[in-house]
Amino acid sequence: MSNNMRVKVNPRFLKIICNKLYDLNPAIIGTRELVQNSHDACIRAAVKPDIKVTLKSGMYNDLSGYWLIVDDNGDGMTADIIENEFLDLGGSYHINETEIGGFGFGAKPVLFSCAYWRVHSLNNEYSLTHLENGDDISKINHRDGTRVEIFIDEVEKPIYQSDVHKIIVMLYLSSLEVDLTLNARGIEFDGKIGFNHLDIQDKLDSVTDDFTARLMPEFIKQDISFSGFNIFRVGGLVQFVEQSNRSTNIRFDLKVNCRPEDDDYPLKLNREDLNWNIRKKVNKVIQRHDENPLTSANTFTHADEDKVYQDGRLLEGLRGYSNYTVNDEIGSDISNLWQALANTSDNKNDPIATLFVEYPDISANDRRILRSWTAIIRIVADISDKFGVGLTSNSIASRYYYKGRTFYLINPSEFVHIPDKEALLLALYHTAIHEASHFYHSSHNEVFTSKMDEISRIAAISIVEVLKPIKRTILRRFRSEDKE
Ligand SMILES: Nc1ncnc2c1ncn2[C@@H]1O[C@H](COP(=O)(O)OP(=O)(O)OP(=O)(O)O)[C@@H](O)[C@H]1O
Ligand SMILES: [Mg+2]
Repeated sequence: MSNNMRVKVNPRFLKIICNKLYDLNPAIIGTRELVQNSHDACIRAAVKPDIKVTLKSGMYNDLSGYWLIVDDNGDGMTADIIENEFLDLGGSYHINETEIGGFGFGAKPVLFSCAYWRVHSLNNEYSLTHLENGDDISKINHRDGTRVEIFIDEVEKPIYQSDVHKIIVMLYLSSLEVDLTLNARGIEFDGKIGFNHLDIQDKLDSVTDDFTARLMPEFIKQDISFSGFNIFRVGGLVQFVEQSNRSTNIRFDLKVNCRPEDDDYPLKLNREDLNWNIRKKVNKVIQRHDENPLTSANTFTHADEDKVYQDGRLLEGLRGYSNYTVNDEIGSDISNLWQALANTSDNKNDPIATLFVEYPDISANDRRILRSWTAIIRIVADISDKFGVGLTSNSIASRYYYKGRTFYLINPSEFVHIPDKEALLLALYHTAIHEASHFYHSSHNEVFTSKMDEISRIAAISIVEVLKPIKRTILRRFRSEDKE
């Protein structure tokens, strides 16, 4: 076969594939792909990006619909690049590691699924009309960079207000400042959106970047909720977002150091989801974050943690004093630990479901702490809360879901420095109240803190009962104060 052999693709077939590839409206995908290409073009040209995005309702011939226009000051495209990269499926040209593209695919499905498009780059112009008529690229006035215009037929691809919101969210949460002009679906806006183009490396290493600290245009504040997102970005640009029912945002900055054809490439072809390998890990982080937002940063490095799960009866909240002393000696193996845990519960012979997360060796001290922890959790947990207990080495403590069950996990090594048994109980008590409050809310908001206060008040009587020695000390002090 000669090297010049080409595979012919029927345009109708191409249009079907391109339409089926994405779930989202082409205005959203188009904004993402065109902005990404412009971003890459500015990196190649080594200029500060000056990117303009316009979405406005309008006409093309007798069709009514929307124009999406993206303008940049990047390196621009020669006629050769337009022909062999911009329009060639799989054609892709990158020289720099910080560029985002690589499939050689991005913008094409958007162009091919829309009613009309045209591109003006340097002194070249090309459009759907050129393509359909078999015309060569036209030579017109020179401009720096590239302008791509796409017309979306409103009948074929209706755009809703929620689609315009998605575009805003995507640009707003990206680390790239663009000039945005909107006049679509009742939303009018003309201004800068996104974030200053910080050094990407700086941003990747920060875990706590707070999106709400950004300047937010007024209309966004009023109309769009910016909470509860799982945000997935490459090179600082949002690829897709998922809405959760939490109130916090989690951002995943994917560092891509392989080719799209590699198994490790993190995104699916349509960039609306992750490849399954990484999806599994990310889901764990999201799950952990849902339980306790403070521990999520910790978890990612422990994504493949080992778990030992011992089935058994779940405990229920008790909110009363359960009989135990922290000094009880507990035997050396797991079955003794179970016996000890069973002793903590109402039914002495029935072991409690227990989970060990990255916890291979259990010392006598660990057993002591786990048993105390179990008793304290029973005092502070909601009466209707059903749970197992366990040890973890990943965080101080957490309320953790495993196999459809809730576990209260404690990390004994965080408490070994406390030699005094009353102080240890108070430290565990405090930690337990925190975790038990996650029964009511996953994030640390006002609902959560007021629940913590409430639990502290309700559980105070029982915990003081547990802390009899301290109680005596307190009473002695009160008595001596009374006398004074
Ligand atoms: N705004 C632009 N300025 C300069 N060159 C561009 C621009 N847009 C596209 N190109 C050129 O067209 C090529 C193809 O773009 P396309 O979006 O299809 O693929 P890609 O960006 O290389 O990879 P990906 O599929 O990951 O987006 C780019 O590699 C680039 O060479
Ligand atoms: Mg691209």
